[in-house]
This record gives sequence, structure tokens and C-alpha cells, in this order.
Amino acid sequence: MTAATDPVKLMKQQVGKAAADLVKSGSIVGLGTGSTTAYAIQYIGERLKSGELKDIVGVPTSFQAEVLAKEYGIPLTTLDAINHIDIAIDGADEVDPQKNLIKGGGAAHTREKVVDYLADQFIVVVDAGKLVDRLGSVFAVPVEVIPMAVTPVMRAVTQLGGKPELRMGVKKAGPVITDQGNMVIDVKFDSIDDPVNLEKTLNNIPGVLENGIFVNCADLVLIGEVKDGQPVV
Ligand code: 5RP
Repeated sequence: MTAATDPVKLMKQQVGKAAADLVKSGSIVGLGTGSTTAYAIQYIGERLKSGELKDIVGVPTSFQAEVLAKEYGIPLTTLDAINHIDIAIDGADEVDPQKNLIKGGGAAHTREKVVDYLADQFIVVVDAGKLVDRLGSVFAVPVEVIPMAVTPVMRAVTQLGGKPELRMGVKKAGPVITDQGNMVIDVKFDSIDDPVNLEKTLNNIPGVLENGIFVNCADLVLIGEVKDGQPVV
């Protein structure tokens, strides 16, 4: 990965590095998905390579995280082989003042939720543009759905007041397919007043595997900002 030059990338790089610095030797580390976490994975790999960090093992939240971890020399394990995760580092698409999140911009929220909730310490890494007063202000809620249930789930979320859109891939050649072989419906709500209940309500629709609302889960949010032309955390 080359050094970033644009301000948002610089913020992501700084915040990814700050999170990587929180990882201690001997830890089991949840490795999140996305462009910000990618920097954390890179810096964890660099700390391992330099010998500053020893005996860590990663649990990837996606195929993307797995590929990156291998590229940067981070040994990997699975949830079958461990009984806890010490620290997880992951990005987010929106963060509210209570540290509730919307995730799933990379269609990885199902595995991310499993890993992030299992961690003793869950660190969220975002640039300042992700902060909102209320969830749903900008981002739609990603909902992973088994393919045969896409139409009834779209109907059900419309009845809840959402505007659903099936997520399409590059050049709209076909729907985005998750690591689990499912599809993602992005559901835009005008305002999410009660994220705790909406998370449960969406997951109760038959055919829904998981949605991207994460409540009462994040321990620390590291925010990248640009001050006086310099990226700071
Ligand atoms: C993937 C995610 C990402 O963490 C989220 O989309 C943030 O990504 P980025 O750091 O690239 O802005 O939830 O499913």
C-alpha cells in the first residue's frame, strides 16, 4: 500500500496506525473490513515484521481482510480454534454520539458483527466525516438477505418506512454477492429514532441474515481529523 496524499486517506492512515498501536503482543485480534481498517492491518503487519509486536493471531471479518492479513504476514485463525478475541479493529459508515454504528458499506457486516461483538475491546476507526447526530442521516442500513427472499424482504422494509435498493456491483452487471453467497438490500430511513429496536425488527424479517446496525458494541472510537492542514487522531 502506498503512502496516502489526499486528506481523507491521510486521516484514515493516521487513525489506522493509532489503532494498530493499541494491539499488544500475545493478542487475538479481530481484523475488520474497509479502507480504514486496511491501514490498521498494514501497520499491525509492519509492527510484527519489525519485532515490536510478537505472537499475535488475527481473525478476519471478510475475504478482503484475509487477503490483506496474508499480504502483511499476520498469522490467522478461526473462531473454532479460539474462545475469545482480545481486541477488534473495524471501520464504520456512520457513528452517533452513543457510539452506535451503521456498518456494511463493504457488505461484510454479518461477519464483522460476529467478530466485533466477541471482542473484549472493540475499536472503531473512522474519519471525521462519519460522525452523525442520528444514525441514518446519510447512510442507508445494509441488510444481508438470502437470494430467494429479496422481494418479500423489500416489501417488508417498505412497510417499516424504509426505501430499499438492491445493492448492485461494478457497472451494475449484477447484484453484490456477500462472502456468504447472499445479497445486500440498502434500506434508507428518513431518521432512525430507535436503533436498538430497528436492529431487532430488521433481523426478525424472514430471509434476513443480519443488518448493519451495531448498538452497545463499540468501546472506543478513534476519529481522524485534519487540523491546520495536518491529519490528527
Ligand atoms: C464493511 C464496513 C466498513 O468498515 C465500512 O464500510 C467503512 O469502510 P471504510 O473504512 O472504507 O470507509 O462496514 O462492511
